[in-house]
Amino acid sequence: MSRIDHYAIFGHPIGHSKSPLIHRLFAEQTGQSIVYTAQDVGPDCFDTALRVFRAGGGMGLNCTVPLKELAFRTADRLTERAELSGAVNTLWWDEGGRLHGDNTDGVGLLRDLTVNLGLTLSGRRILVLGAGGAARGILGPLLAQRPAVLVVANRTVSRARELARRFADLGPLRACGFTELAGQRFDLILNATAAGLENQLPPLPAGLLLPGGVCYDLMYGDQPTAFVRWGIGQGAGLSVDGLGMLVEQAAEAFLRWRGVRPDTGPVIARLRA
Ligand code: ATR
Repeated sequence: MSRIDHYAIFGHPIGHSKSPLIHRLFAEQTGQSIVYTAQDVGPDCFDTALRVFRAGGGMGLNCTVPLKELAFRTADRLTERAELSGAVNTLWWDEGGRLHGDNTDGVGLLRDLTVNLGLTLSGRRILVLGAGGAARGILGPLLAQRPAVLVVANRTVSRARELARRFADLGPLRACGFTELAGQRFDLILNATAAGLENQLPPLPAGLLLPGGVCYDLMYGDQPTAFVRWGIGQGAGLSVDGLGMLVEQAAEAFLRWRGVRPDTGPVIARLRA
């Protein structure tokens, strides 16, 4: 009898998650027999939901907002990149029943930027907006690309400073508030704030982009996000949302769980269509 392995994404809210579709397309493409469901789980019931899922034969999980820090604290073992980011988006149990945690967000973003979009980050001036969990997951992988400078700007400046201290050994990282950005210029601006959830924008000065500069929103939506629209208005060479990152981080999780890397290009194209 063939066995169907069960995976899921936990988060709140979860209704509009594209992850079940993405993993179904990966499974079809690679001939893997899995089911992948979305479960509305908040922090208060995370432990219980995890136990119930495991008892029912669950093999692995993705965690999204607001559970990534909690997943980090719950895992028995962490990958190096999860340890560094302080957040976990991918969980799985080993044969001994230990729960492993990884963070595939950073590598997913990098694959989208460098492979899908063909960008070079080395020697570039990069700005990250936001200093929450989403920002923390991408700073290490971005610094590993050896940018000329990486600036983290946040509404609450102390949070940006704390991140700059945490990642100081990894490269040229500076912290500031939004008003201090005036007069600075960047090749790439990444929006890792949650402002887009309310269709808002951080208060950004005009003229932040160097000619041909790129805007990238870690969020995505069926319509262009407020930040993507801002980038277009600022004359960006390219202004895109994070759908590619979403598919790439999912592919990395799929690889962890199933030992096979799906071809992401057709899946991104299908979701865009
Ligand atoms: P996540 O895990 O999604 O990053 P988070 O840890 O709550 O969520 O962080 C949300 C980020 O979005 C923070 O950088 C937050 O700024 P503060 O640290 O000052 O709270 C930022 N953010 C949320 N709403 C914002 C808004 N309307 N304008 C600017 N920044 C906003």
